[in-house]
Amino acid sequence: MVKKACAYALKMVQSNPWYPKIARKLISGIEIKKAGDEETAKICNSVNKKHKGLILPGPNTACFIARNKRKTVGYIFLVKHHPNASSFYRYWLSTLWVAPFYRRLGIGRVLMKIAMDEARAQKAKQLYILVNQANERALPLYIELGFTPASIPEISEYLEEEKKLTGIDKMAMVTGF
Ligand SMILES: CC(C)(COP(=O)(O)OP(=O)(O)OC[C@H]1O[C@@H](n2cnc3c(N)ncnc32)[C@H](O)[C@@H]1OP(=O)(O)O)[C@@H](O)C(=O)NCCC(=O)NCCS
Repeated sequence: MVKKACAYALKMVQSNPWYPKIARKLISGIEIKKAGDEETAKICNSVNKKHKGLILPGPNTACFIARNKRKTVGYIFLVKHHPNASSFYRYWLSTLWVAPFYRRLGIGRVLMKIAMDEARAQKAKQLYILVNQANERALPLYIELGFTPASIPEISEYLEEEKKLTGIDKMAMVTGF
């Protein structure tokens, strides 16, 4: 109960237009970089505990992390699905997450940008992302970075299924290079 109330209060404070300016001055020392194999596997494991088998570690999966001292405070995955392996056969950004206390500091934007740079370096022509249509924090960021809604017939069944199971209405977005 107390935890929920604190989370709500933090969210409210962070929604204020003045918050990023002040917080970005107070909180410093965030390092953002590509994770090594061991760390990628560790984060994959913890993500997969929550979202069963969502991310497979391997040569087609790159993970970017934000760190404050030794603590991981954010991450994102860039996954290249093989054409024969999945109806998701494309470059995808996945599982962008920033720890609640570290939100609105610009970490999400930097994680997105370095993962996009990596996709570009891998010669991706398009880059996709799935987003909950009600996600008021992520949507403006994706739009700012050039993502627009995309229709992908191969995954529409998956999205319908997920909506039935979880009530979450997700859509795909795409940007081109
Ligand atoms: C979405 C999320 C990753 C954003 O990370 P963040 O580090 O807080 O984002 P940034 O500080 O880089 O903000 C970038 C932009 O996103 C938008 N944004 C982020 N948080 C916002 C908020 N609380 N209210 C309104 N806009 C917000 C703004 O456009 C912001 O730009 P601005 O600060 O110049 O106004 C973070 O809120 C999070 O981890 N949420 C839970 C997981 C999640 O929803 N992931 C997305 C899955 S698709």
